[in-house]
This record gives sequence, C-alpha cells and structure tokens, in this order.
Amino acid sequence: MPKISLKIREQFPILKKKMHGKPLVYLDNGATTQKPQRVINAEKEFYETTNANIHRGVYELSEKATAQYESAHEKVASFIGAESFKEIVFTKNTTEAINLVASSLPNEIFRDKKKILVTIMEHHSNLLPWQRLARERGLVLEFVELAQDGNLDLVDLKNKLNNQVAILAVTHVSNVLGTVNPIDRIVKMAHKVNALVLVDSAQSIARLPINVKKNKVDFLVFSGHKMYGPLGIGVLYGRRELLEKMEPFMLGGDMVTTVTRKSATWNNLPWKFEAGTPNIAGGVALGMAVDFIKSVGIPSIWQHEQELVEYVISKLLEIEGLVIVGLENVGEHLSVLSRGRTQRSSPTTKPLIRAGVISFTVDGIHSHDLVTLLDAEGIAVRAGHHCVQPLLTTLGIKECTRISFSVTTTLEELDRFITVLGESVKILKR
Ligand code: ALA
Repeated sequence: MPKISLKIREQFPILKKKMHGKPLVYLDNGATTQKPQRVINAEKEFYETTNANIHRGVYELSEKATAQYESAHEKVASFIGAESFKEIVFTKNTTEAINLVASSLPNEIFRDKKKILVTIMEHHSNLLPWQRLARERGLVLEFVELAQDGNLDLVDLKNKLNNQVAILAVTHVSNVLGTVNPIDRIVKMAHKVNALVLVDSAQSIARLPINVKKNKVDFLVFSGHKMYGPLGIGVLYGRRELLEKMEPFMLGGDMVTTVTRKSATWNNLPWKFEAGTPNIAGGVALGMAVDFIKSVGIPSIWQHEQELVEYVISKLLEIEGLVIVGLENVGEHLSVLSRGRTQRSSPTTKPLIRAGVISFTVDGIHSHDLVTLLDAEGIAVRAGHHCVQPLLTTLGIKECTRISFSVTTTLEELDRFITVLGESVKILKR
C-alpha cells in the first residue's frame, strides 16, 4: 500500500476542494501538478516581503531578491547534479527551453552533419522546433520508432545513430505511454557518434532521478509546474562549454555587459540567456518546489507511483473494450497483464516499467464523452491527442484518455476513478 500520500496530500490545499459537489480526484498531473502550501507561500511571501527587480538596484531589497533568485538556480543545479548554477537557465517552460536550444546551437555542431534525430514519442514541443531547424538548415529529420513492447526501439536507434546526426532529442518519459527511456544508455550511444543529446525531462523530473553530470547529458529541459512548482517558470540545463558557444535566444536588458550604438557584449552565464525581467517570484517558488521534492525523496515518489500503476493497470484491463495505449499485443509481460496481474510469470519475462502516466481507449467511445462523465463526478483526467499526433497516428488512433499520477494520488482515488469509469462506459455503450 502506498504510504506517503496521505501525509503529503494534506499539504495541497486544492485537493480539499469539491467539484460538482464531489471530492476532487485529480488525475491530470501530466498536464500540471498541484502545488503544496509551501510553494504557494514562497511565491506569496516574495511579493509581500522581497519584491524588487534583480541585478539592477544597489539597494537592500533588490539585493535580497537577487540572492533568492540566484539561490533558486543553485538549488536546481544541485537537484540535477549540474556542475554549477551557470549551467541553469530559467525559461518560461520546457517549450521555451527547447526553442532556445534549437534556435541557438552553434554552427560547428552541424559541420559535416546532415541529420537531426527525434523519437516518435516526442511531445509537439520537442518536435516542431526541430522540424523548423531541419528545414532552415537543409537537414533530414529522422524518427526513432517504437518497439513491439511499446518501448523505444533501441535497435532502430542504433541503426539511425551515425556520424551524420548532429543532435538527438529524446523524452525521458513519454507523456502518453508512460514509457521510460534509458537515458544513460541512449546518451552513450549518441556520444559514440559525436551527436549531442537533448533530454526532455518534463514528465520525469518529479518522479525519476537524473544526474546530468553522471549521465553526461548535453541539454536537459523541464517545467516548474510539472514538479509541484509554479506556472511560468522552466529550466534549461546546458553543458557549460556548449552554452558558452551559443548565441543568446533573446536580446534585451540584463543579458549584456557593454552596449554601444552598434554592438554589445554578452553577460556571463546563465544571465546571457535570461533577457529582460525574469519571473523572479516563480524562480524563488521553484526553489521551494525542489525542497519539497527532496523532502519526500525521488525514490519514494517513484515507488509510490509504481504501486499505483500496477494496481490501476490490472483494474483497467477488467473493463470490456478498454485498450491501454502502447501496451496492446506487446509481448510476454502483457499476456501476464491481460490476466489482471502485473507479476512476472517467469524469470525470463521482462518486468513492466511504466511511469505514472497511462492512456487508454475504449472501443466505440470518444475520450471527450468519457471525460465529461468523469468530470461530473469530480474526476479530472485528460482527453484528446495530448500534443503527440505523430505518435497516435503511428499507433492508429486519433485520441485517447489519459490518467497521470503524482505523489498525492491515492488508491482510494483510483478505486473511485475505476468505479466511475466502469459506470460511464456502461452508460455510453447503451
Ligand atoms: N504537455 C502537457 C501534457 O502532456 C501539457 O499534458
């Protein structure tokens, strides 16, 4: 039984809310997590006690604001194992961080290279900037496909990774399938052919450990709001040597040291990439979100979600006509799953590793209809294409329903969800 959630849950004020007169069951953490009181307080307290612009005023309030904002960079650096806060650029979100990299990569990265590699499970935000870059530079954009078991096809990756590849953009956890990509192995494969790797950690940062230095990741991107932090703040980690060579994505205040009528010199890292007044309060509250995650512990969060994943998959498969996306006809461990258990049937059966993100379709029922009935009972889940249209097209579907967990999710909530889902399916099939 997951043990951590009840104590932790009490720290999230919104979870005490009722929707349509029913207790809120929030299962859309993949879209955004809810916020613990201490994160909300950190942002509020900043405005109440410390609000001033950073790096500008030589007065105490501004110095305090600067210290808190810089300390948040330090906290993030230490959380992901970066060498220095200079490698941590605060952006608006994951999307902006990816756009920054795609727009600012130095020319030398593309010397003698003809390809950009992405995977078929990328969110649109980790695809569209690469589509444009490929168009602009006359490069070929290639996709690494899914294997039969719903994981990334590492053989396909190996075949497509050659010394023509300038950069590989890969998600750590799929926002629809919940598959976990072996970043350590993938980075090693890419570096062998001298390709850079950008890892989209939006869905993994709050549930899986990542150490950018140990894993030798070149770029890591994520959003504050999917890790119990505020909206409007995200992170780009970049290896210092690369960031030094990159041109700023945006130009303006605070990212310069000297400006003449005709030219300018850039500020030190990371400020070179943070033009204009940043989201200072959001940055400070993001630092608090890091403290929150550390206080619970990533291993505990992962363990908690794993228990929920195993439980809910076995329950979902009892619903007639329901197919879990990316798990149908997918090899040995799934024949075990289809019998309603997630235990391995034999020592040779591969264990199922899925993060707390599960999507499904129900024969003859549109996800929007399902979600409407679930919402009427206070249950929040997401429907649609989840910003991964190429993946869904590859899987032969147009939309699906997604549930996604966090440290606050309880078995009781999942029981309630499964009961209402079963009833909704019956109503819609009548
Ligand atoms: N990218 C977020 C999701 O997958 C919004 O839901």
